[in-house]
Amino acid sequence: MKKRVFSGIQPTGTIHIGNYLAAIRRWVIAQAEYESIFCIVDLHAITVPQEPKLLKAKNLEMAAILLAAGIDPGVSVIFVQSQIGAHAELAWILNCIIPMGWMLRMTQFKEKSQRQKEQVTTGLFDYPALMAADILLYRTNLVPVGEDQRQHVELARDVAERFNSRYGPTFELPEAVIPEVGSRIMGLKDPTKKMSKTGDEEGNVLGVLDSPDEIRAKIMKAVTDPLREIRFDPDRPGINNLLVIYELFSGESRAAIEQRFAGKGYAQFKAELAETVIEGLRPLQLRFRELMEDQRYIGRLLEEGAGRIRPVAEETLSTVKEKVGLGLPVLKGA
Ligand code: TYM
Repeated sequence: MKKRVFSGIQPTGTIHIGNYLAAIRRWVIAQAEYESIFCIVDLHAITVPQEPKLLKAKNLEMAAILLAAGIDPGVSVIFVQSQIGAHAELAWILNCIIPMGWMLRMTQFKEKSQRQKEQVTTGLFDYPALMAADILLYRTNLVPVGEDQRQHVELARDVAERFNSRYGPTFELPEAVIPEVGSRIMGLKDPTKKMSKTGDEEGNVLGVLDSPDEIRAKIMKAVTDPLREIRFDPDRPGINNLLVIYELFSGESRAAIEQRFAGKGYAQFKAELAETVIEGLRPLQLRFRELMEDQRYIGRLLEEGAGRIRPVAEETLSTVKEKVGLGLPVLKGA
């Protein structure tokens, strides 16, 4: 049996090259080898306030980006999370076996809640339980994500183990698959923090749909250091991040890249990096624009995706409900 891959992405903010390099692009590769399911997680998106009309449009745009990047709906499933009710229902059941202490340890909640202060919702706190439900519903083996999601996938695994030991074997134990290079693409303006979809100063985030001019401008203004030496070095976060982006878009080895830019200035390196990124994103952008011309087609694919996968989710959920003892017993009488 083929192993099953599941991963998700929030349809909010700017979809950036961190999402693309660490997640989307690897999903495209994974689908050839594994049975793959990709989810646009709009229920996760509403853990922070969203404009309702915009959110629906974002679901569509997100699907178009995934398709344009090369997710093949004939091979993989793409669907919108809220179209399958089992996600929220399983999340509730899992809530009732997850110790508060596990959730309190989640670093992403700590970071996000510090930024949002009094606006923090219960949903934001509970986010990892919903993510565990996403993963466990489909008996997922592998979860390709960036480094920032590692802890959440580990929690999903712990929840699966806890459920299995309490109620008997039910869930597969999922494993995070994180790339060796580019698991944490950093901001262009602040390379000490990860590139993030929301709340960033101008020029920090390189969007997959950014125009060539935007890409050039942002890369030329990216923060580096005064050392003037173009070399991979994690202790020099600015230049290191740009080199990692170059490496991933060009496919060249580190040695070849360092040799190519030996003795050259940052401006020249940045100019070449910008052109490499522009070329790397060009097919996706072209295909995206074509796809957005026929929104009905995308809508149909999403409906079909949900239709194909809903029976799997419902079967898992009904097994879980049975094991937990929810609903009615076998009834006596006429
Ligand atoms: P999200 O939407 O924040 O990000 C989507 C994917 O992009 C990765 N990523 C990054 N990788 C490298 N560098 C960065 N700067 C960077 N920023 C984001 C993320 O690690 C992720 O793989 N909670 C998830 C969505 C989700 C999910 C799931 C994922 C919901 N349910 C089940 C896997 C399985 C999230 O918010 O990703």
